[in-house]
Amino acid sequence: MTSTVNIHIDKTTKSRVADYDVNNVPFGKCFSDHMFIAEYADGKWQTSKICPYGDMPLSYAMSALHYGQAIFEGMKAYKNENGEVSLFRPLENLKRLNKSAIRMCMPEVPEEIFMGGLIELLKLDAAWVPTSETGSLYIRPFLIATEEAIGVKSSENYKFIIITCPAGKYYSEPIKVLVETNYFRAVIGGVGNVKAAGNYGRSLYPTKLAQQKGYQQVIWTDSATHQYVEESGTMNLMFVLGDTLITPALSDTILAGITRDSVLELARSWGMKVEERKVSLKEIYEAYEKGELKEAFGCGTAATIAQIVGIGYEGKDLVLPPVSERKFSTKVDETLRMIRKGKSEDKFNWMMKI
Ligand code: PLP
Ligand code: COI
Repeated sequence: MTSTVNIHIDKTTKSRVADYDVNNVPFGKCFSDHMFIAEYADGKWQTSKICPYGDMPLSYAMSALHYGQAIFEGMKAYKNENGEVSLFRPLENLKRLNKSAIRMCMPEVPEEIFMGGLIELLKLDAAWVPTSETGSLYIRPFLIATEEAIGVKSSENYKFIIITCPAGKYYSEPIKVLVETNYFRAVIGGVGNVKAAGNYGRSLYPTKLAQQKGYQQVIWTDSATHQYVEESGTMNLMFVLGDTLITPALSDTILAGITRDSVLELARSWGMKVEERKVSLKEIYEAYEKGELKEAFGCGTAATIAQIVGIGYEGKDLVLPPVSERKFSTKVDETLRMIRKGKSEDKFNWMMKI
């Protein structure tokens, strides 16, 4: 794909890439040389530029800071053995960004700005894309309201920005999760099905409480009854009960994960039984008691496939089968990795070479 948008490029005079081992950096802490910025004002998208990564000269009164008009995406680029860089299903991220934009009363980002910026940025910062088996370049596109105004109204000005950082595994080990029944992530009619920044801020306190009890993450339950599971942390949830893959159906309290969709597509293509529906805690617990809860995992861009080995529920710890016995999630994890690294056939056309 070629960019049709005019991007002013101001290249760094001194790349920082040699200062890092890009195959071995903590998630989200080391940023690549360049960033992309597009400005929105007077009812339309204005200039676009790529410049050295750096700080923002913005007003302390800007609307994003006060009223949370801020949305983001998470996506990844991968390098194959020939050094070629590809994106995984980038247009799905664009679609979801624009769904978030509509819900948060922000302007949609046109495809030529999103893809044009992304491609030029990746061309410049290709050296930052890890080559390791599990490494990738994490890409964070985000849209923020920048008007200097304290009145509660939708902003007149916005910036769409893309920054990137090399990433390895988000969770280095399988995780234990705690079912959360006091706090909730999303409500019907709310913004849980979009990537609004505030969804993440509100999750931190319940997550901290769970971590103090020895869990890495929470399982969010529905806000009306706390009887149904929804997501875990920043991941969609999946269970293998007997021989069936089960996941909560999409709703306006669940983010439509691109990894979730890819896992379901692979499972169906392998002839596995798949059910997207409400999943109750009672059902999970009963399956566990009968020995039918074979696998549980979270899936998401940052986390990829995160194996869940323990679930804290009503004062008890459900100890799940060891990862070595999990045929489905191990196969799906490996298959996704091979497709992304260009090592196996991409029959769903998920990869976009830049
Ligand atoms: N659910 C939430 C709340 C998330 O933040 C994410 C991460 O983006 C996901 C699910 C997984 O979505 P995806 O697979 O598109 O990254
Ligand atoms: C992602 O998986 O991309 C996320 O958005 C999760 C997180 C790092 C916020």
